[in-house]
Amino acid sequence: MSGELERLIYASQATRDYPSLEAIAGIVEVSDRNNRQNGVTGALVLADGVFLQVLEGAAPDIELTLSRLLRDPRHTDLQVLQRHPVGFRQFEGWGLVGAALEPTRQSVMDELIGFAQADPDYVVDRVRTLVADQASRDAGG
Ligand SMILES: Cc1cc2nc3c(=O)[nH]c(=O)nc-3n(C[C@H](O)[C@H](O)[C@H](O)COP(=O)(O)O)c2cc1C
Repeated sequence: MSGELERLIYASQATRDYPSLEAIAGIVEVSDRNNRQNGVTGALVLADGVFLQVLEGAAPDIELTLSRLLRDPRHTDLQVLQRHPVGFRQFEGWGLVGAALEPTRQSVMDELIGFAQADPDYVVDRVRTLVADQASRDAGG
């Protein structure tokens, strides 16, 4: 990995019905594999047909991932909300794309999208919490 560490936050509209975390398991699996190969870390949140993803990595690796994402027909209207150099990774521990599903919490998603530019650290913090909550639900907690 070379180049400056960068963090990108985007939102997009799902083009298919993804009613559950299982429905995006394939996306997460391939993304996880690719991201590990590319030195990219991050998290994906889905709520009511809206994706919000945080990606961290060297600028060229983020660029490559973004170019693939922009070609993916499973979502559309991808809007980069924030892209900025950062000092360290927030999803280092995962080393992969974690996914959280909040099917009835559209207001949470609106809040995350609304704050992404003004207060990206807050948004990343919330995403970390959502992913951790999902993980504990998956573990039966
Ligand atoms: C919502 C969403 C999030 C995705 N996140 C990633 C990601 O973090 N990393 C990645 O490599 N691909 C991600 N993908 C998949 C890419 O768009 C693309 O399909 C994949 O990287 C192609 O991999 P392949 O060339 O190995 O088939 C995502 C797709 C969707 C719809």
